Amino acid sequence: MSARLIDGKAFAARLRERVAAAVPDFVATMDRVPGLAVVLVGDDPASQIYVRSKHKATVEAGMASFEHRLPETTSQEELVALVERLNDDESVDAILVQLPLPAGIDDKAVIDTIDPDKDVDGFHVINAGRLAVGEDGLVSCTPLGCLMLLKDQLGDLSGLEAVVVGRSNIVGKPMAQLLLRENCTVTLAHSRTRNLAEVVGRGDILVVAVGQPELVKADWIKPGATVIDVGMNRQSGEDGKTRLLGDVAFAEAKEVAGAITPVPGGVGPMTIAVLLRNTLVAAQLRAGMPPPAGL
Ligand code: GUN
Repeated sequence: MSARLIDGKAFAARLRERVAAAVPDFVATMDRVPGLAVVLVGDDPASQIYVRSKHKATVEAGMASFEHRLPETTSQEELVALVERLNDDESVDAILVQLPLPAGIDDKAVIDTIDPDKDVDGFHVINAGRLAVGEDGLVSCTPLGCLMLLKDQLGDLSGLEAVVVGRSNIVGKPMAQLLLRENCTVTLAHSRTRNLAEVVGRGDILVVAVGQPELVKADWIKPGATVIDVGMNRQSGEDGKTRLLGDVAFAEAKEVAGAITPVPGGVGPMTIAVLLRNTLVAAQLRAGMPPPAGL
């Protein structure tokens, strides 16, 4: 039997519409638009594309986008000074420093300079801590987007076995925390996990975020499981064209899973949609307004 395809692109488009529809209410109350500042250091081609898409989406949602492009030679002190200025800027509700940063700049030192209430990526140690102890805070966009897709598919997640593969601070760890908050029984697997295939097979829910093309094979997956593939691995084919491959062997896995995200068109579009959502939520919280319902 073939799995249901989880259409992240359509879900993301609906979320972006809901964010855009909620912006005028903020503007009416605060007499200004919510603002997102994106900082890009250097000229990494993939980062340039991401930053351009983020700018376009922010403007389309009716919010202000402030782009700060700095040369590869920027020092850590200069970058920290810019973040401090953005912290103090009342027109900026949300700050995103695009990763990876050039060698020689300590990511953590920069991220921990961001005001936690403007930390739209949820990467600051305060926001990671808030998530871990179950307090409200800004949550990393990609795992929050994955959770939205899972709840849309499954409704109540209570009591389900959830397996997350990959323990990054950006996806795996916050994903495990979010699933725990939804009362799942969570296993966080990683590169040192023994019998990974067997561990993966426990999951009613499986989220894979390791950055290894087609690591997870169809016969590892529990029949009927809901599979979220966060992988975006670029590979050049024999025809010279670049293909995007997920971390799950999709063609075979879709014959075993109950529902699965394709790559592309699954998790990818969710990240920007949740970034817009988080920007509006950060603006609402800073303004002392209740966060909008349904976002
Ligand atoms: N680089 C790749 N993905 C991300 C992301 O979600 N946030 C930031 N800041 N940088 C990234």
